[in-house]
Amino acid sequence: MRPTVLLPLLALVAAVPARADHPPPVQLSAKDDHKRTMDLLGIKELRRGADGNPKSPNAANSDEAKATPYPDLPDPLRLKDGQRVTTPELWRTRRRAEIVEDFDREVYGRVPRQTPKVKWEVTRTEKQTVGDVPVVTKTLVGRVDNSAYPAVTVDIALTLTVPAAAAGPVPVVLEFGFVFPGGKGPALPPPGGKGGPSWQQQVLAKGWGYAILVPATVQADTGAGLTRGIIGLCNAGRPRGVDDWGALRAWAWGASRALDYFETDPSVDARRVMIEGLSRYGKAALVAMAYDERFAVGFIGSSGAGGAKLHRRDFGEKVENVAGSGEYHWMAGNYLKYAGPLTAKDLPVDAHELVALCAPRPVFISVGSAQVEGTWVDARGMFLAGVHAGPVYELLGKRGLGTAEFPPQETALVAGEVAFRQHAGGHTTGPNWPTFLRFAERYVGGPGR
Ligand code: GCU
Repeated sequence: MRPTVLLPLLALVAAVPARADHPPPVQLSAKDDHKRTMDLLGIKELRRGADGNPKSPNAANSDEAKATPYPDLPDPLRLKDGQRVTTPELWRTRRRAEIVEDFDREVYGRVPRQTPKVKWEVTRTEKQTVGDVPVVTKTLVGRVDNSAYPAVTVDIALTLTVPAAAAGPVPVVLEFGFVFPGGKGPALPPPGGKGGPSWQQQVLAKGWGYAILVPATVQADTGAGLTRGIIGLCNAGRPRGVDDWGALRAWAWGASRALDYFETDPSVDARRVMIEGLSRYGKAALVAMAYDERFAVGFIGSSGAGGAKLHRRDFGEKVENVAGSGEYHWMAGNYLKYAGPLTAKDLPVDAHELVALCAPRPVFISVGSAQVEGTWVDARGMFLAGVHAGPVYELLGKRGLGTAEFPPQETALVAGEVAFRQHAGGHTTGPNWPTFLRFAERYVGGPGR
């Protein structure tokens, strides 16, 4: 071979790093990684979280009279330099960015400046019938480019279902689906039956579509998984720094990548995509809605601590629980500081400002009955975040909840762009779907708008 041919070949070989350049991901248990995070922060001890069992001596507080140890909330409409935010312009150009920076650094962690590209592939297209509506369901895989660190593979699982008869692009509700490891992906929704139509049937009845993203395919739901998944891939298998992103932002990132795909799929109107989730995925839905302004409407189910509930409340789950080794992976490492030596009142931001980041877009805060769901999620703590996000919505020419008084169960507060309803059921968004869909319809309209 002539040297001129050989040289480029050699260069090619050199460009493909040897295996030794890719040590496998660091393996740590959640407990060990949690401890490692404490060490990075110079923390010796964290206060213990509240106990879900009401009989425990350390039971979570459920007495409203003791729920507000820190009554002062950060003002979403005051700049760090003390200046009041009196125009939408100031909010958009300065204050919003300040709040995002605080949430990034102290609460949810930063998404790396460069994240790898995702290539969406439709692996199956099926005609199905849901209820009595003919639909087309696409099964998709979002293959994340792992050429920088081939030891971690991330294949995002997503399904998209639209009415077969749709004349054009339709609004879509994107749900973070509860699919457990080994599960093949979301099954067909159960037929209506005595429980009434499933949420998917209700969405289809509007002429809209729905999509289900499997969060665990983006990022595992455990501290032991932080060196894998999208977080581990971006860190080349090394453990997190204290302001690196946690699982909530990683799941939200996955939802944004799904939205990228929708922008390329002619069956979806990507300007009318709603995001929904329950519980930990309610937190993720709110984070997605707050950070990615392309999401049109949010449906935030029983999101509790780390979601819409004010961190400064002592009612049900506390900062100390979320900072513990079972949940800290949802958050940035820095969040641990607020469970010792600092407290919730030292947080530079609170959940009302996360809701405010959704402004002016409509957001529906959902919760179940205290008797059925329990008080762990803190219905009032989430309601209050909605109340205190109100001034930002108003500054932007929209309406907040319209009242600061906690409403009786099954009262829909839906007059403005911040909505709230406590349904009579348990830990589910189920009974709130009809109210949510009527609320959302005002903004996203019918299928052929
Ligand atoms: C636990 C956790 C909550 C979380 C919930 C869930 O109860 O403490 O913060 O929302 O699990 O996701 O099911």
